[in-house]
Amino acid sequence: MLRNKICIIPKPVSMALGKGKFIITNKTIIESDPILIEVAKFFKRLLKPATGFDLLIVNSKSEINKNNTVTLNIDKEINNLGEEGYFLNINQERIIISAPSPVGVFYGIQTLRQLLPVEIESITNKSHIEWSVPSVLIKDYPRFSWRGYMLDESRHFLGKDVVKRILDMMALFKMNVFHWHLTDDQGWRIEIKKYPLLIEIGSKRKETQIGGFISKKTDNTPHEGFYTQKDVQEIVAYADKLFIKIVPEIDMPGHSKAVLAAYPELSCTEGPFEVPIKFGIKKDVFCVGKEVVFEFMQNVLDEIIQLFPSKIIHIGGDEVPKKRWKECPECQTRIKSESLKDEKGLQIYFTNRIIAFLTSRDCRVMGWNQILSDKLSEDVIGQYWIFGKKKVMKHLKKGGNIVMSKFGYTYLDYSYSFTSLSKAYRYEPIPKKLIKEYHCNILGIETPMWTEWVRNVRELDWQTYPRLIAFAETGWTLIEQKNFINFKKCLEIILKRLDILGICYAQKVEYEPHFIKKTFGFFSVFKEPKRRSLY
Ligand code: ACM
Ligand code: ZN
Repeated sequence: MLRNKICIIPKPVSMALGKGKFIITNKTIIESDPILIEVAKFFKRLLKPATGFDLLIVNSKSEINKNNTVTLNIDKEINNLGEEGYFLNINQERIIISAPSPVGVFYGIQTLRQLLPVEIESITNKSHIEWSVPSVLIKDYPRFSWRGYMLDESRHFLGKDVVKRILDMMALFKMNVFHWHLTDDQGWRIEIKKYPLLIEIGSKRKETQIGGFISKKTDNTPHEGFYTQKDVQEIVAYADKLFIKIVPEIDMPGHSKAVLAAYPELSCTEGPFEVPIKFGIKKDVFCVGKEVVFEFMQNVLDEIIQLFPSKIIHIGGDEVPKKRWKECPECQTRIKSESLKDEKGLQIYFTNRIIAFLTSRDCRVMGWNQILSDKLSEDVIGQYWIFGKKKVMKHLKKGGNIVMSKFGYTYLDYSYSFTSLSKAYRYEPIPKKLIKEYHCNILGIETPMWTEWVRNVRELDWQTYPRLIAFAETGWTLIEQKNFINFKKCLEIILKRLDILGICYAQKVEYEPHFIKKTFGFFSVFKEPKRRSLY
C-alpha cells in the first residue's frame, strides 16, 4: 500500500508514513556535519537547477533554529545499518538524514531526491512546482555490498561524458561498483606510458562487423578512441564523489589481439596481426612460454594500479583458446619445466603468476569464473557468468568471494526477447544449492554491458534501462521485500525522471515482449537487437 504513495527504487528496508509534508523553499538551510561538506554540496547542486534555490550550508555545530532545515548527520553509534545504511526522518518542520558513514548520508539524499517531484531532475528552472516531500521515517541498508555495472569500451569506445552519465545514474539507484572493461580483441582503451603502441596501433581498427556474430557485413568506417591517464584520474575522482568504486579490467591471457597487433612478439606465432574488425573468440592469445609477456603485464599493471585507488584489479581470464599453446615450442617447454599437466594447467600457472605479482602490490585480484581452480588462492574474487558452477561452489565453500553475473539474466547486451525486464528482475544472486553459512561469501550482483552491437549512447541507454533499475533493486532490497508488481508501478514514475534526464530507455512493449517472442528469444543472442523505439 505504502509503496503506491511513495515510490523509491531500490525499495527501502522499512518506511512509516507520517502526517503532512515538508516543503523545501529558498529559505531552507542545509545543516551539515563538517566531514559531510562534499555530500552537502552535492545535495545543494542537485536542487539548484530545477528549484533555482541557492541553499545555505551551515555547520551542524552552529546554533540555528532547526525549523526548515535539512540536517546531514554522522552518527557512529548507529550500529545496525552496516557501512552503507541510513535513517531518513521527514516531518513538517525538518528533515534529518543520519548514518554511520558519509556514503549512508549520500544514499539518504538519493532517497530524498526520489521523494521530491520528478521535475527536480530538470536542468532548467521550474518555478511553479511545490518542492514538497511526505512526512516519513525510512530505515534502509543494502542486501549486498557489491552492486555493479560493467561497461565494455573495447568493442565500442563511448567516451568520458557517457561514462559520467552512467555513474550519475548508478548513484541514483545506489549502485557502487563500476567495472570498466578497457581492453579486448577489438581495441585497447587506456594510455600506458611505457607501451605507446597500445594506443598508436591497439586503439584503432579499420572498420567494424555489423548485423550479428555470423554476419559478413562491415560498416566501412574506422573506429578508435582511448582514455589518457589524466582522463582516467578525472573519472576516478568523479566516481569517488558518487561513492562508486572503479574496478578496471585488463583481460588476459585471451581477448588480447589488440595488444598483439601492437606488440606481436608477445604472441606464440609473432604475427603480424591487425586489430580485429570482427567479433567472437580469437585463437591468438599471449604466449605463456615467454618471460617478456610477464614483464609486459607487470609493467602495464604497475601503471594501472597507480590510477585506480580501489586496488581490485580484474584480469579477465575468460574464453582462452588453447590452440596456439598446443603448437608453440615455448609454451610446451613451460608446461614441461613447470611439470604442468596440459594447456589448462598453463593458464592456471599464468594466472597464479599474475596473482602473485598483484598481491605483492597489495591488490586483490578478480577474474571471470574460468580462472577458478583448486590451485588458486581464496582471496581471488570470481565473477560467475557461465559454466563451472561446481568450481564456483568450491570457491565459496573455502571462503572465497563471488560476484554473480549469470549471462542469460544479467547481460545487458541481449535483446529483451531473451532477457525481458521480468526475467532480469527475477534473477536471484544466491544459488539455491548454497547453504546459508556461505551466503555471505556472495558479494553481490553485477550487470555487464558488452558493446559489440552498441555504437552510441542512445543504443547503450536502450539496452541498459530499465533493466539496470531491476538489478539495482536486486542488489539493494531484501529478497522478502522484492515484488515485481510493485516494482513496475514505481518504475512508471522513475521513467518520468529518466525522460527528464534524457535517457532513451526501451519502451514497455519492448522490455516485456509477447510470450511468442520470448519463446524464440534465445536465437536473438547471435544477432543485433532491434531497437524499434529508437529509430
Ligand atoms: C564473458 O562474457 N566473456 C565474460
Ligand atoms: Zn607460446
